[in-house]
Amino acid sequence: MTKYVINGGKRLNGEVTISGAKNAAVAIIPAALLVDGSCRIENVPKIIDVTLQMEILRELGVSVRLLNATTVELDGECVQDAKVPYELMRKIRASYYLIGALLGKYHHAEVAMPGGCNFGGIRPIDQHIKGFEALGATVSIREGGFIHADAPNGLTGAHIYFDVVSVGATINIMLAAVLAKGMTIIENAAKEPHIVDLANFLNAMGADVKGAGTDVIKIRGVERLHGGTYSIIPDQIEAGTFMAAVAACGGQALIKNVIPKHLECITCKLAEMGVEITEFDDAVLVSRMGKLLKTNIKTLPYPGFPTDMQPQMTTALCLAEGTSIITEGVWDNRYRYTEELARMGANIHVDGKIAVVEGVSELTAAPVRAYDLRAGAAMVIAGLAAKGTTQVEQVTNIERGYENLVEKFVGLGADMFRAEIPDSDSATMPVAK
Ligand code: EPZ
Repeated sequence: MTKYVINGGKRLNGEVTISGAKNAAVAIIPAALLVDGSCRIENVPKIIDVTLQMEILRELGVSVRLLNATTVELDGECVQDAKVPYELMRKIRASYYLIGALLGKYHHAEVAMPGGCNFGGIRPIDQHIKGFEALGATVSIREGGFIHADAPNGLTGAHIYFDVVSVGATINIMLAAVLAKGMTIIENAAKEPHIVDLANFLNAMGADVKGAGTDVIKIRGVERLHGGTYSIIPDQIEAGTFMAAVAACGGQALIKNVIPKHLECITCKLAEMGVEITEFDDAVLVSRMGKLLKTNIKTLPYPGFPTDMQPQMTTALCLAEGTSIITEGVWDNRYRYTEELARMGANIHVDGKIAVVEGVSELTAAPVRAYDLRAGAAMVIAGLAAKGTTQVEQVTNIERGYENLVEKFVGLGADMFRAEIPDSDSATMPVAK
């Protein structure tokens, strides 16, 4: 099994360059299906979820050409079938964006129920279905776990009011509505940077999307989308993950290729914790020389504190002086990873959506698991901060959303490497290089 081996207890120092945003890429890549002709997408992160999505597009008949490590050219002219192989679909949640894209373009979609990170709570899609039906589609869940969406008379713009703020539902309805007849208004829309990035991509291809980044998004349907070139924004959560790592380990890092505005919530919270952050046009300098201070965090939809940074910040707060209170305001159950932190000496009490973190003087190494993407990032941060050699298992979950994470941390002075370690040997800690 592939594991990360981390010889922790060292401060981080150096520079790291952030990759393209995972949650923007997994929305923009399916959006290429809506385009007549080819589109060139730059700053695409090299991560498992993106690789899987490209495999799915190829299965549909899309021409996928990698022009270089981070640029892909997609041409959906030859799409033959709107049905995606079950096994591929099950692996990533973002596969359900194919429903919006295929329905929007071909008025038909057959897509397996989504997979993706399992924090332990259910991940419903009722708001997606509500939006598709409002646009005139018939949606049913067929045997074998397939979602069928059909609109034989095409889609007609509608006024859709989401019951909850949902990134996925907002994205899916944007994809379905750009070629619909008439105006679609999405109320209570998600406002994350990746929503705005998708809207900018669609408009660059000839769509008419206004209001992305606010609660109300207005989409006037157009006849067709033309090809073009678009560059994906940097990943705010990857950047935040490195910022939290510096907070936990101490040291100083220049984090490059970021949009500081997207990091504001994280920057403000880290400043409360005694971390110094200097903003530049497309970089932030993060340093923590003194003690880490306690704080309280409540995760909320953007521009609130991002839920995808909750495990990483909770891990840093395990080493803060005093008691911190974390409230998970987006997901029902996103604290499974705290069991793994407890094995490293963390003192966290979880009660439903609230975690009470009592700071400890140090964490100690232990073999831990990456239960999901951000929980895995938290395990890496804990291993980097802990005394001794930590092994992190199930790293595929991490590499679904982080490009070259080991290399990037090594660039900051971390002593860590990937290793193939048979399960039976997991008790014997390999000596870190
Ligand atoms: C996206 O998931 C992200 N994934 C998640 O990031 C992120 O945690 C989440 O948005 C919130 O920011 C991708 O973008 C691929 P939601 P999504 O729909 O779209 C409820 C990561 O680590 N809800 O905004 O699935 C839902 O239960 C991943 O990169 C409904 O009730 O999240 C949740 O409580 C993990 N009905 C809340 O809304 C619906 O139809 C927010 O979910 C849809 C959602």
